[in-house]
Amino acid sequence: MMHVSGDSVGGARGAAEPAIGGLAAIGRTPMVRLGAIVPDGAAEVWVKLEGGNPTGSYKDRMAVSLLSSALRRGDVSPGDTVVEFTGGSTGTALGFVAGVLGLQFTAVFSDAFSDSKRQAMEAFGATVLIEPSVDGMITTELAERMRRRAHALAAQPGSFYADQFGSPDVRRGYAPMGEEIADALDGDLDVFCTAVGTGGALMGTLDGLRRAGVDPEVVTVEPAEAPLLTTGVSGAHHVEGVAVFPDPPFLDRSVLGDVRVVAQERAFEMCRMLARVEGVFGGGSTGLNVCAAIDLAVELGAGHRVVTISCDTGLKYLGEDPYA
Ligand SMILES: Cc1ncc(COP(=O)(O)O)c(C=O)c1O
Repeated sequence: MMHVSGDSVGGARGAAEPAIGGLAAIGRTPMVRLGAIVPDGAAEVWVKLEGGNPTGSYKDRMAVSLLSSALRRGDVSPGDTVVEFTGGSTGTALGFVAGVLGLQFTAVFSDAFSDSKRQAMEAFGATVLIEPSVDGMITTELAERMRRRAHALAAQPGSFYADQFGSPDVRRGYAPMGEEIADALDGDLDVFCTAVGTGGALMGTLDGLRRAGVDPEVVTVEPAEAPLLTTGVSGAHHVEGVAVFPDPPFLDRSVLGDVRVVAQERAFEMCRMLARVEGVFGGGSTGLNVCAAIDLAVELGAGHRVVTISCDTGLKYLGEDPYA
């Protein structure tokens, strides 16, 4: 198998995160090799199971990086209020980490998102403000209203805007995931493949892989219903967290060897099969990732390794796509 040594990436070293309470349980998630679902003669497919993080999502990695770095720099102080607008997963991670670090957290949320996300944020002590949607639709107009409200709140004294779409601490937070993958496979992998929303997880994981001396081919994947990266055309889809930005804020397209397109329904069917056949239980983006990883594995053939991510747990999606 190919093992290419890459240059280490400067400036992206993950901060030594505080190991307090549940924060100590972030990361070091399992890596599993898929079995029967991968055709004979294909490359190995390995999946990093990020649903094992405390809130069931890899967003915990960026939340602890963001808030602990901001505390260290003095950008925020214990007792202050962290503010973010969110569809729920990032808000749950920020609520969890804020609580442990002695910070308040206010989420600008909307009734367009699932009520279980509101409940999860509140369970971690967040104050959740609802920006009303028109008929439950997620639109750019709604997102803009949420953003403005979050910015106005964050301008008040004793408040801090988390900036999940701009802070360099997001990418830094994912670097340990790359180091963990390299460690689990002794640096022996050929392709790293994952879908992007902001691109923070892809870029940060690649930073960590390169820091560990591994420089795989990088492939991303997007839903056929919203092929933003391949065609620039937006469209309605239900794969949460991905294909949201025509220009994902953290993505450096020059690292991409390829962009794959997978139909949403195939991704959802893959999720259901993964649960039943492999015991891997993820959300829609996991289905997208595994479809692309298996396609790549078939093309590469035996003697190679493809790595992808199960970004979060399927428990977040009961009663909705892909488990409706
Ligand atoms: C379930 C899920 N998968 C994938 C992503 C994409 O991650 P990133 O924004 O780091 O590219 C997100 C981000 O919101 C997500 O919630």
